[in-house]
Amino acid sequence: MSDKRVMVIGSGGRECAFAWKLNKDNEVGQVYCAPGNGGTSAFAINIDCDINNNNEILEQVIKYKIDLVLVGPEAPLANGIVDFLKTNDINVFGPDKYASQLESSKLFAREVMAEYNIPQPKYKKCSSAEEVLEVKNDWGLPIVIKADGLAAGKGVIICEDENSFNEALDLMFKKSGFGDASKSVSVEECLYGEELSIFAVCDGQDYKILNTAQDHKRAYDNDLGPNTGGMGAYSPTPLSTENILSQTENKIIKPILTAMKDKGHPYTGFLYVGIMIVNNEPYVIEFNVRMGDPETQVVIPLLKDSFYSLLNSCLSGNLKNVNLEISSKTAVTIVLAADGYPNSYNKGMEIFELDQIEDGSVFHAGTTLVDKKIITSGGRVLNVVGIGDNLKDAILKAYKLAEKISFEGKFFRKDIGKKGLSYK
Ligand code: AMP
Ligand code: GLY
Repeated sequence: MSDKRVMVIGSGGRECAFAWKLNKDNEVGQVYCAPGNGGTSAFAINIDCDINNNNEILEQVIKYKIDLVLVGPEAPLANGIVDFLKTNDINVFGPDKYASQLESSKLFAREVMAEYNIPQPKYKKCSSAEEVLEVKNDWGLPIVIKADGLAAGKGVIICEDENSFNEALDLMFKKSGFGDASKSVSVEECLYGEELSIFAVCDGQDYKILNTAQDHKRAYDNDLGPNTGGMGAYSPTPLSTENILSQTENKIIKPILTAMKDKGHPYTGFLYVGIMIVNNEPYVIEFNVRMGDPETQVVIPLLKDSFYSLLNSCLSGNLKNVNLEISSKTAVTIVLAADGYPNSYNKGMEIFELDQIEDGSVFHAGTTLVDKKIITSGGRVLNVVGIGDNLKDAILKAYKLAEKISFEGKFFRKDIGKKGLSYK
């Protein structure tokens, strides 16, 4: 019966991909996006709503008689949206506030990992510049300083020399650049190796691997320029060999699920494991308690099963009986950004040629529908997606689309997936 009403919380490319997939689901009658974007307005009902206000979300969920809420970004999860909706008898997919600390507190995550012997870089909790200085004098440079709290992906500073170290201390403790997020910091050994992300869905007891991906975080080609939310990704990555995957499952995913269960907060939701491979072993750089953006835009199109049933199987604790079917193809997404991103950029530019693009090949991020025109409203504007039999093929397809769409000030990296080709 295709009568279920699903609400996706969030407004980025990740949420557009979720909504697109749910819209195709036989069991789903109507998708709602709170607040959604110009892309989701084509097939879902966008609801204007402050996603960091739990009461406002509940009001909309009741008003539209929503059967299932899917939370995209980390902020509402850290804000306890799952606990709040559950106490109001609403079906919601995502970890509770306690478990969301795996992302919202870097130190919480490090401490749990230490307790359960999960491989991670050496770290030390520090709450003042003096304490960090002591660690630096002890370990030497390079070191990594991470704000404990959420800092919109900007709270990590790699200090390779005295200058960057002193700047980091100033930013974290004197200028309070991250507000309360940097009251405490995790000072970490700096690891060197290849990075990849492994995505799992979890039902509190069991998990299934959705896929693996590699993000491209720097703004410019060859991993240069400032850090961004992500300029492109591909899935799966050849870095995820059987050996790396089985080590990640046994040494990282299983123990962290056990940990959350032991602490009385069984983990339900997406688990994003960001790892670095050092000497052929995976070390946890970070956990996120949600899917990645733009990684979702390559992982979700490769999922063959009903996304709605998968989410429901997790909520009913029935994941064990699900036989996940994932396409063996490769997907590449390229972010089309507004000139200036991740710093200041213009908004309001009209986007052309979108109607020439095949369904499922573009997910909107920073766009709005105004007077039947799609205009830019954010830094990361669109995600084009190419799917191919192999990485090379998928790259070619994605770049064809990236060239085709136009808006004033469009810029994108020209080397998405190139690293992946070099691993083969
Ligand atoms: P995060 O926000 O925790 O993912 O950190 C952002 C980026 O900083 C990661 O993708 C890594 O490239 C880098 N990073 C974070 N922690 C470490 C570490 N301990 N050693 C080396 N690089 C790190
Ligand atoms: N693309 C990185 C993230 O979603 O955290």
